[in-house]
Amino acid sequence: MSQPEYIEIRALGDTKLFEPIQVGPNTLNQRIAFAPTTRRRATSDHVPVDLELDYYTKRAQAPGTLIITEATFVSPQGSGSNYVPGIFTKEQVKGWKKINDSIHKEKSFSSIQLWYLGRAAEPAVLKKDGLPFLGPSAIYKTEESEKAAKESGNELRPFTIEEINRLVNEEYPNAARNALEAGFDYFELHAAHSYAISQFFNPASNKRTDKYGGSIENRARILLEIIDKLIPIVGANRLAVRLSPWATFQTSEPEGEEIHSYILKELQKRSDQGNELAYISIVEPRVSGSLDVEKDKQIGSNEFANKIWKGKFIKAGNYTYDAPDFKSLLEDVQDNRTLIGFSRFFTSNPDLVSRLKNGYPLLKYDRAVFYDQDNWGYNTYNNYDEQKTFDENRERNRYGLALA
Ligand SMILES: Cc1cc2nc3c(=O)[nH]c(=O)nc-3n(C[C@H](O)[C@H](O)[C@H](O)COP(=O)(O)O)c2cc1C
Repeated sequence: MSQPEYIEIRALGDTKLFEPIQVGPNTLNQRIAFAPTTRRRATSDHVPVDLELDYYTKRAQAPGTLIITEATFVSPQGSGSNYVPGIFTKEQVKGWKKINDSIHKEKSFSSIQLWYLGRAAEPAVLKKDGLPFLGPSAIYKTEESEKAAKESGNELRPFTIEEINRLVNEEYPNAARNALEAGFDYFELHAAHSYAISQFFNPASNKRTDKYGGSIENRARILLEIIDKLIPIVGANRLAVRLSPWATFQTSEPEGEEIHSYILKELQKRSDQGNELAYISIVEPRVSGSLDVEKDKQIGSNEFANKIWKGKFIKAGNYTYDAPDFKSLLEDVQDNRTLIGFSRFFTSNPDLVSRLKNGYPLLKYDRAVFYDQDNWGYNTYNNYDEQKTFDENRERNRYGLALA
């Protein structure tokens, strides 16, 4: 067996990263968030179970950490991928409530990332539930998606206005109310990475000629409508949005600065009127989806966002690239309003916060186990001071989740 690989880091305990920060109604002990990380370990009914309970509890172990959940389906129509959790049934709410109680016991905080797949769904999975395959326009993300849609007899078609109304006025509000019941502290709208909301932003996936397509105002409309709908339900100071202006994951072109400038101006306008959102999560151009972007292929900069949005940011995207020094991270937290999100290194280092604080080496992550449906490579990572060994055969079967 090969030796585990580590990256060496400096201790960050005496830097701004470890100063408390107010986010909405809560004070976090450090400026570190677990960025949303899909792991596909829920049941076939989209229920988060003991697997997720153990996983999130361990990552919440440093008091005052912000745990953002993996992207979680808002509604059956928003789904279309197996083993991803949801927040639209009683069982799902119960599963998340248990997880939130446990995160809160660690004195940490939780944010749910609300997800609607749109054209990124698997058409056959929707078909099995008797649901149509919907996007802003009938433009497939790839040839494979088109082939899968045709083979399953569920071809992509544009949302009707009634379907958009239902999404805005029923599906998201219902999910937000369920998430409140489940005890989440924050509610993050996934408006990144070319899923439904961001498909509306992008002319590459949105050719509509009604009030949801065409101009920037029209393409951003669905997000702002959802935000205005959810503010009275969860409170502006607990609502958040994730944006990825430069990602090309699942799309032929990035959304870019112009539409995001408009969105941020609109959100700042709401702040100025007393409805400041808890945070804006923004993905750095160093990554696209879950992959690093090579230096010479990186496009754009989020500098424009710093100028428009005056509230809190969570920034994520390969902040370990310049370890052991963390020059970028330390520069970015200087403004006293930025938290840093980590995804991949949180998968393999459940005590990531303590390792960053103390300068303990970080165990490299294993991409091969990101999306498996068992406990191997999920709850089989140790804290720095633990030496537990795990048996792959046993962990592959530990929860009896024969997820057919
Ligand atoms: C396995 C995996 C799953 C991810 N799932 C999500 C997700 O559900 N929602 C999301 O907005 N981003 C998701 N991302 C992107 C991360 O949140 C993050 O932006 C990206 O990995 C860069 O951060 P990192 O360099 O710390 O890993 C995922 C990334 C990985 C590696």
